[in-house]
Amino acid sequence: MTDVRIGIIGGGLMGRELAAVCGRWLHLVDHPVRPSVVAVADLNPAALEWFRQVPTIETLTDSWQQLTNDPTLDVLYIAVPHNVHEEIYTAAAAAGKDFLAEKPFGIDLGAAERIAAGIDASGVFVRVSSEMPFFPGALRAYELARSGALGEIVEVRSAFLHSSDIDRSKPINWKRRMETCGAIGVMGDLGMHVAHVPLRLHYQPSSVYALLEDIVTDRPVAAGSSEKVRCDTWDNAFITMRGRITGSERAFPMMWETKRIAPGNMNTWVFEAQGMDEGVRFSTRTPAYFERFRRDGSEQIWEQVQPGNVSAWPMVSGAIFEFGFADALLQMWASYLAERAGQLGDRFGTATVAEAVESHRVFDAAARSHAERRAIN
Ligand SMILES: NC(=O)c1ccc[n+]([C@@H]2O[C@H](COP(=O)([O-])OP(=O)(O)OC[C@H]3O[C@@H](n4cnc5c(N)ncnc54)[C@H](O)[C@@H]3O)[C@@H](O)[C@H]2O)c1
Repeated sequence: MTDVRIGIIGGGLMGRELAAVCGRWLHLVDHPVRPSVVAVADLNPAALEWFRQVPTIETLTDSWQQLTNDPTLDVLYIAVPHNVHEEIYTAAAAAGKDFLAEKPFGIDLGAAERIAAGIDASGVFVRVSSEMPFFPGALRAYELARSGALGEIVEVRSAFLHSSDIDRSKPINWKRRMETCGAIGVMGDLGMHVAHVPLRLHYQPSSVYALLEDIVTDRPVAAGSSEKVRCDTWDNAFITMRGRITGSERAFPMMWETKRIAPGNMNTWVFEAQGMDEGVRFSTRTPAYFERFRRDGSEQIWEQVQPGNVSAWPMVSGAIFEFGFADALLQMWASYLAERAGQLGDRFGTATVAEAVESHRVFDAAARSHAERRAIN
C-alpha cells in the first residue's frame, strides 16, 4: 500500500465528504493506496474548524496557494464554487499537482477548454467527480449497454432529479446565482452526472435542443428574511439531442434531464437505454436492482435483477448487503486513486477531462438552443 497525502481546497460540503471517505478507507479490500487528508484550505474559518476532528490533519489555512505549492502533498481535491474553478485548477496543473476536479469543471465552455489545455501542457493526472455510476445497478446497466447486447439503440435517457429547491423560502446561495454558479445554471450543477455514462459509452451528442426553466426567480437573502434577491440560474433543464455511437451511421434520440425542482424526487439519478433486442434501466430510487428488457418470442419482458453490493472495488461488506450514496463516493475515490496508481485494470473509471469538456459543449449548445429556439448542431 502506498500512502497518498491529500490536500483539500474548499472544505465545504464535498470537502467534508472526502474526509469521511478517507476515514473509512478500511472498507475497501486490497486497494493499492492508503489516502489521508492532511491539509485543508478554505476562506471560511468555520469550514476549517470542522476539520480539527480529522486525526490526520496537519495544516489548516485560508490560502489555497499554500496547498498548490506544498511539495509534501501528492493529490489535491478542489471543491470550490464554479467561478473559481479555472483559477485554482490551472494553478494546480501549473504547479504539477494531480487533482480530482469537481464538476462542472469551469464556469463555462471557455473555462473548461482553458483548464484542459493547462492540464495537457503539464501532464498532471486529473479526473472529474461523478459518483452515481458506481452504484452496482448503474455499473451493470453500463456494462450491458457497452456489451452491444441491446442491439440497435432506440433511445437513451439520463437524468438527475432533485427537489432541493422546491421550498421557495430557502435562502439564496452561490449555487443559485449566475455569477458564481454559471449561466448554464442547473446543467453545471448536475450535468456531469447525466453526461458521464452516455459519453463513456461513446454516444456522441449532436443536434441539441433544450428547454430551460427558471421557476423560482427570487429568494430570501437569509433564512427567515423577507428581503429577497434575484435568483437568476436555470432550475431545470431538459436537453434533447441525437446520439451516435462513434463509428456508426445511425443516430438515436438521447435525453439529458437535470432538475433542481422535480417534485417527488429527493436525489434520483437515472440511466436507461433501449435497444431493438434488449433494454436496461437503473434508478437510485430503487438502488437494490436494475431492470432488463428482453423479448421471448412474442412476449416482451422487463425483469428485475439484484446485483448485490458489488461495485467497482471489493468491499468488506459483502454482496449480500445493499449500497448507498456514501458508498458511491468511496468507490469513486477508490477508482480515481487506483487509476492514478496505474492499477485500475478494466474497472469503471471516474469522468475524464475530455468528458467534462464534451459535457460543457452540450450545455453551451443547450443554452444557445434555448435562447434561439432552435437545435444547435
Ligand atoms: N459530486 C457531487 O455529488 C457534488 C455535490 C455537491 C457539490 N459538488 C461540487 O463541489 C464543488 C463545491 O461544492 P460544495 O457543495 O462543496 O460547496 P460549499 O459551498 O459547501 O463549499 C465550497 C467551499 O469553498 C470555499 N471557498 C470558496 N472560495 C474559496 C477560495 N478562493 N479558496 C478556498 N476556499 C474557497 C467556501 O468557503 C466553501 O467552504 C462545486 O464544484 C460543486 O458543483 C459536487
